[in-house]
Amino acid sequence: MSSLVIAGAQWGDEGKGKITDFLSQKADFVVRYAGGDNAGHTLVHAGQKLHVQLIPSGICLPHVQNVIGTGVVVNPKTLFAEIDYLAAHGVAVHNLKVSSRAQVIMPYHQLFDQLQESLKSEKIGTTHKGIGPAYQDKLERIGIRIADLLDPETLRLRLEQALSVKNLLLTKVYEQEPLDFDSIYQEYLAYGEKLRPYVADTSYLINEALDAGQRVLFEGAQGIMLDIDHGTYPFVTSSNPVAGGAAVGAGVGPQRIQEIIGVAKVYCSRVGAGPFPTELHDETAQTIRDTAHEYGVVTGRPRRIGWLDIVALRHAKRVSGLTQLSLNCLDVLSGFETVKIATAYELDGQVIDYYPASERDLARCQPIYEELPGWSEDITTCKTLADLPAAARAYLNRVCELVDLPLATFAVGADRSATNVLGQLWRD
Ligand code: IMP
Ligand code: MG
Repeated sequence: MSSLVIAGAQWGDEGKGKITDFLSQKADFVVRYAGGDNAGHTLVHAGQKLHVQLIPSGICLPHVQNVIGTGVVVNPKTLFAEIDYLAAHGVAVHNLKVSSRAQVIMPYHQLFDQLQESLKSEKIGTTHKGIGPAYQDKLERIGIRIADLLDPETLRLRLEQALSVKNLLLTKVYEQEPLDFDSIYQEYLAYGEKLRPYVADTSYLINEALDAGQRVLFEGAQGIMLDIDHGTYPFVTSSNPVAGGAAVGAGVGPQRIQEIIGVAKVYCSRVGAGPFPTELHDETAQTIRDTAHEYGVVTGRPRRIGWLDIVALRHAKRVSGLTQLSLNCLDVLSGFETVKIATAYELDGQVIDYYPASERDLARCQPIYEELPGWSEDITTCKTLADLPAAARAYLNRVCELVDLPLATFAVGADRSATNVLGQLWRD
């Protein structure tokens, strides 16, 4: 058995795709365990860049079994659009399985994502993909699962039940038109038929693979600071991007997970609302945003930018059990006279080293910065730590020292070839 989790250690968009891509080459399975088409990752196939939101990152590699796990919320429309898109770019999808127990995103989930948000005085800034409402229905136990789409009678029953609630809310609370049962029923029944060849008991498959000594990569979406339980609630997503989410979302025992690689950028970014103690509103932020093209892949929104936050990174390490750190976008920090790292916060005159739970406390937190010398060299072709200018190397070393994790990889550019791997990532 050999397994590892790749988890975003900040607020998503840490560049997980590149290391996932690299590790997928040597994987037997790549498993998405949480979230849905709110994520967005870029894959490279035959020199072309491909964007997917739901399908796991190993899809371009025919030897890899890709799995959409039970913890994922699946929008079938997106899934088939992605399968068609991949086919049009020369990637035939024969290596995908979807958990029979995964929840389905229904048209009313997207509708409610907008309606619910419109009533909130404090907007979360969701991606409007219906992610939150789909997880809500799962917990309310009126969700529809992939297996239900394969059985016309079950689908009829579940959809009737769900729509009876949704239509009451739509008409009486939101003053909208009710949804029509028949058209949704027919559409989703057809998805079920199309899905049939992909549907499997994926927990069974993954455990069997682990028993046979195969390599399983659990691919996280979003980031640990957006975790529903451990993130900056309520400004979070509705699933568990933490590594523990891989055990639950894939259906494997926690002892099956060996290595947990936390991926972070050497600065911070976040889309949507919520606390962000090291956020910058100055020229530095705009320089970083422009250099790194920090605009959302899914929504196109400009991302909020700030200096690297070690307090948040240590929080991510703790709640997720990170064993290694991948640091991305080192090239983006080239050209600054000095670079800053927040090592603690000052809250009401006290120095604290933990991430407060309270939104109001977080808003009052003043980062305490360590300022390190910058570097101006173009580092985009550096392959090893020794190739880096001394100041850039010192910066990476200091970050790893502060977080107390070994460096798994560092990246000096957006390209796949710009990710430099240090040492062994798979444990075997
Ligand atoms: P939701 O996941 O669409 O419900 O959005 C909830 C919050 O998570 C919003 O602030 C989104 O911007 C953020 N979010 C969701 N998915 C991603 C992602 O893949 N990258 C970064 N932020 C995300
Ligand atoms: Mg992304």
